[in-house]
Amino acid sequence: MAKITSGVGTSHVPAIGAAVDKGMTAQPYWHPLFEGYEHARKWIEKEKPDVCIIVYNDHASAFSLELVPTFAIGVAPEFQPADEGYGPRKVPTVKGHPALSWHICESLILNEFDITIANEMPVDHGLTVPLSIMYDQPEEWPCKVIPLAVNVVQYPQPLGTRCFALGKAIREAVESFDEDLKVCVLGTGGMSHQLQGERAGFINKDFDIAFLNDLTANPERLIQMKHAEYLRDSGSEGAELVMWLIMLGALKNPKELYRHYHVPVSNTGAGLIILDSE
Ligand code: DHB
Ligand code: FE
Repeated sequence: MAKITSGVGTSHVPAIGAAVDKGMTAQPYWHPLFEGYEHARKWIEKEKPDVCIIVYNDHASAFSLELVPTFAIGVAPEFQPADEGYGPRKVPTVKGHPALSWHICESLILNEFDITIANEMPVDHGLTVPLSIMYDQPEEWPCKVIPLAVNVVQYPQPLGTRCFALGKAIREAVESFDEDLKVCVLGTGGMSHQLQGERAGFINKDFDIAFLNDLTANPERLIQMKHAEYLRDSGSEGAELVMWLIMLGALKNPKELYRHYHVPVSNTGAGLIILDSE
């Protein structure tokens, strides 16, 4: 049977992808961040997940404001890196796992979790930057990827409670898939940042550290956190952190294996955490 054995929470700042693509990771600005990623890269090389379910938000690349699915799962055999205005990133095509994607769709929808089915979906920095963080620059990505896009751009975004419940439903779905697969769930986005308006540049390190702590120490506090609290305490784009709660919901008795936090990275408090699942 398929099994979710681990989860990763990580920021997905586009400049991190650009630093990898342009060979800048040893430069003084980037070195402290990428030094912290080394352990994560060694870990995933050993862990070797067959499939990564990457929970991310689309930043008006696949979807515009004409169509805003709250939750959408990619079921295609391939997903192309999106053109976000500078041409697509020169990273490998993302290979899907249609059989598992369709099984998750069926399990979710028949259990009354009505997710949107995406037969075609270019994937933007929200998905490709975490792959670069974990795998650097391989010829091909070493795992199959199931993209799960979450609306955190257009109000009303899904609640933390709903995100956590979706994670649990995904766990149930994966564990009823009849193939021996090791699955890692990644929740991307955050941590605190605000890219626009009067508080552009806002970062809250204390909030970020407390969030990392409470993923294992007090998950209920994070699950119950309201949009207004994210806005106030982590900036408008800090609300991307609800996607980490989908990852958390997919794990059983999560134990922290590793974390790294560095601030600032571009406009963001950049965090990474690895959690083990029973
Ligand atoms: C930045 C962070 C993001 O999460 C994003 O989607 C875009 C930009 C930034 O800090 O530059
Ligand atoms: Fe983002």
